[in-house]
Amino acid sequence: MSDIVQCVPLQDDAAWPPNWRATTHSISSGRYIDPAFAVLEFERLWNRVWQAAARLDEIPEAGDYTVYEIGDQSVLLVRVDAATVKAYHNFCPHRGTALGEGCGKFEHDRIICPFHGWRWDLRGQVQYVLERQEFRNGELRDSDVALKEVSVALFAGFVFINLARDPAPFDEFIAPVRQLIEDLAIGDMHHYWWKEIAAPGNWKVAQEAFFESYHVPTTHPQLETAGADFIFGDQSGPEVDFSHHYHQYETFPHGHGRFFGGKKTPMAGHVTLPGDPVEMMAARLNLLVEGMDAMVLAEDVELVRSLKGKPIPEGSSLGGEYMKLLYSTAAAQNRPMPKPAPEVLDMWGGEIFVFPNLMILPQAGNAMIYRVRPHRTDPDRCIFEILSTRTYPASLTPPRATVEKVVDPSDPEQLRLIPRQDLGNIPRMQRGLHSRGCKQIWLARYYEQIILHMHQELDRYLLAGP
Ligand code: FES
Ligand SMILES: [Fe+2]
Repeated sequence: MSDIVQCVPLQDDAAWPPNWRATTHSISSGRYIDPAFAVLEFERLWNRVWQAAARLDEIPEAGDYTVYEIGDQSVLLVRVDAATVKAYHNFCPHRGTALGEGCGKFEHDRIICPFHGWRWDLRGQVQYVLERQEFRNGELRDSDVALKEVSVALFAGFVFINLARDPAPFDEFIAPVRQLIEDLAIGDMHHYWWKEIAAPGNWKVAQEAFFESYHVPTTHPQLETAGADFIFGDQSGPEVDFSHHYHQYETFPHGHGRFFGGKKTPMAGHVTLPGDPVEMMAARLNLLVEGMDAMVLAEDVELVRSLKGKPIPEGSSLGGEYMKLLYSTAAAQNRPMPKPAPEVLDMWGGEIFVFPNLMILPQAGNAMIYRVRPHRTDPDRCIFEILSTRTYPASLTPPRATVEKVVDPSDPEQLRLIPRQDLGNIPRMQRGLHSRGCKQIWLARYYEQIILHMHQELDRYLLAGP
């Protein structure tokens, strides 16, 4: 291990093997590939951290349930009424049978174990035990066989859970990003589509592919053609003005972070391609429709096109006119939109990272959400999910969210171009991290700060002791 560059560790990890260390500017490869490190993450991170277990859209009606799995733990999420969701450790107190699988509905508000028919109400109170007098010498108490609750917090349309017996308050955990997420109306976003991909990479490798925009010209050349031409060209001329130069990065307590493009985004009308500005802006935004069917939707591009030939009033801009049109159209449909404040609009096209594994990419009345979970036993695999969400006109009831499993992430029929490009890097990174020559990865101080910050918070959990 002598060829590891010695640098200041982030926290007191002196007892750790060198290949588990994160420093102020590098991350050791063992954190991504060592099964023992993954075991420690389950014990000390996943068993103790607040995590997004579901969208409320998965359980819209009383009696609806869904199951959330993290490692070898399974949690049953049950909608009790309009304002209440309960989470239970997913097992029957009789012989251990999982009470829920996948998602569904508990008919007549009764949770019935499929093995011997014990029954509970939606609040976890036992209602029926067959041959009850046979148990505990005839003195079985209701409390012996009540379902065991898991802590729950509802926020922004998510059901967060925490497996710790006495978790730190959710409000403290979410405080640094609460306002951002609320202003962006993420709680008003509902299911549009949701895909799950079994990805061949560590969960951190997978999510870190989305923590920066520094990869865009190389991984998504169609989104940044000038940058791509420079990178893949002969590089004889001066370096181009890459778009990531205009992105701002920020990190917050509790491991959260964000980046955003501010006014230099195609959404705000900033397009550097020559030609008719309306056509260019529509074409640029359409790359997101075609490439993702998320963040920007076809109807948004139609709105841009409708501005063609219309004069732009003095003091306004194409982006400004587009915003006005977006908001007036949404108002006419009685469709919720993010708060129309400059600092909120600047976040469109950016990302909010909620530690440890949730990414929210907000846009005009819609948002793309990524969630990444570790594989139960294999540090080389993870579960990667994409949730495309949007606001709906008040007259429409959003559909119940159900997941579609992507069998082959390289198949254009199953996944569009942009996620295919991103996910295409993941197996290559994971393979590379196993190389005996790869002891650590290097991180850009500014452009990759969310990655470093995430590892710093991860260490706070992992070093907290048993
Ligand atoms: S295992 Fe559930 S009732 Fe027997
Ligand atoms: Fe990407």
